[in-house]
Amino acid sequence: MTQDTLLVPASGDRGGGTRWWRDAVIYQVYVRSFADSDGDGVGDLPGVRSRLPYLAGLGVDALWLTPFYVSPMADFGYDVADYRDVDPLFGTLADARDLIADAHAHGLRIIVDVVPNHTSDRHAWFQAALAAAPGSVERARYVFRDGRGPGGAEPPNDWESVFGGPAWTRVPDGQWYLHLFAPEQPDLDWENPEVHAEFADILRFWLDLGVDGFRVDVAHGMAKAPGLPDVGHPNQVEMLGTAVLPYFDQDPVHAIHREWRRLLDSYDGERIAVAEAWAPTPQRLADYTRPDELHQAFNFHYLTAPWEADGMRAVIDESLRTAGAVGAPATWVLSNHDVKRHVTRYGDGETGLRRARAAALLTLALPGSSYVYQGEELGLPEVLDLPEEFQQDPQRLRGEGAGRDGCRVPLPWEGEEPPFGFGAGAAPWLPIPTEWRDLTVAAQDGDPGSMLALYREALRIRREHPALGDGDLYWIASPPGTLVFVREAGGGNGRLACAINMGDTTARVSVRGTPLLASGPVHTDRTASGGDVDLPPDTALWWDAEEG
Ligand code: NOJ
Repeated sequence: MTQDTLLVPASGDRGGGTRWWRDAVIYQVYVRSFADSDGDGVGDLPGVRSRLPYLAGLGVDALWLTPFYVSPMADFGYDVADYRDVDPLFGTLADARDLIADAHAHGLRIIVDVVPNHTSDRHAWFQAALAAAPGSVERARYVFRDGRGPGGAEPPNDWESVFGGPAWTRVPDGQWYLHLFAPEQPDLDWENPEVHAEFADILRFWLDLGVDGFRVDVAHGMAKAPGLPDVGHPNQVEMLGTAVLPYFDQDPVHAIHREWRRLLDSYDGERIAVAEAWAPTPQRLADYTRPDELHQAFNFHYLTAPWEADGMRAVIDESLRTAGAVGAPATWVLSNHDVKRHVTRYGDGETGLRRARAAALLTLALPGSSYVYQGEELGLPEVLDLPEEFQQDPQRLRGEGAGRDGCRVPLPWEGEEPPFGFGAGAAPWLPIPTEWRDLTVAAQDGDPGSMLALYREALRIRREHPALGDGDLYWIASPPGTLVFVREAGGGNGRLACAINMGDTTARVSVRGTPLLASGPVHTDRTASGGDVDLPPDTALWWDAEEG
């Protein structure tokens, strides 16, 4: 048996593809907050298009655009009223077409969001369901049920919305409908073949328009346990991603992903899908990326790992092992539009920034594909003191934890005063802190010590170095609190080593080779101790490693 026949057939590679997605760096554009071209205070598609040179220059491979479809914006676009058109707030369908074409001309692929677990309550189907009688075909596209207790006045079961409160809302004729998120986001019933047909058509619509793939929202949610049994526990939001729930990560959901995979594979150009799936274990998460399912899944186990070397190494090993077992690339993500930005999670201020710089080098050296959330390349922190009147996130408004507005503040591009070139006209939909004057793209451009320079250089090396991207790693013994690993290109074509010190004292790491990039000041004592490096706390280093 040759080496090749031992490999799990790479998904999507129908013989001869580039398998671009196995090591792609994918930049998340939160459209609303990226760049505002028409001065209404909200980012839009032409705004993204105007900044394509910046994104191409940054050195990423693809963009993931958050939903820009027609929506009443109860959950900022994750409540879709028309899946085949662009909301006027974000532009037109022609703008989407132009953006896709222009991105391709810049060498950037485009991934769009698809939201299949729920629609908006303003979607034509839900409006028809409300107007129709219980038991009608219109209601059968959603999850309508009679209530429990006298007069059916109690919800059909004890399920809770991710945004807080019961997952059921009653309609005037007495029935209840399910919404795992806001009441404005009714869940579809994926046992209904009409729902399958509709989404296959929606996917084709965007594939025909030229997109390179989809980010699948709540990819773990479409199948519910038969009979919709009670959970039996309150505070279900605390169980998300760690426990088995009758409404998430149910086995039948995989049949939907297989169906979508066949559809994607029927197109040429290696179109992909990435699952936003919260599964209780890395093994269950890897199930979403089996060879006949989706190409990638976000690695939230990595995102939620604390700043601690042993735990971080365990998450990395487990992620590589479980993804590798199904032949999928591991993915790495530090921030997105739903979580507190990692500069702040890692300690905020100077500490948070230092750690975020080191985390960038760690992340971009790991085998597989990486996600970069807009603004992390600028070192943006979470905005923790947004004035009350600006807080708009339904998660917070329904009382479930801190809101997500603080990670969605618009990007600062240039200038000395807010809105820092985000748009000219109305004030941005969320205010940009004055202190971000030093964090604008223009302020960091040309400053070799800036976060932007670090990302540009790391991404340049990642593109050029044969050892980075897809593949494997091996660990090198290193002092407590540190991690050291080596990436090796096939055929002896180069080795890159990465060391990170996550402890609180300086650690001596043996570096045999040529230093390439450091996240902070490091002292190299190359003559006295044969290439040892004193790695300060919260610092990472890449070097071209010698054999042996
Ligand atoms: C996950 C999205 O990332 C989040 O922003 C949204 O609120 C929920 N899915 C519901 O669609």
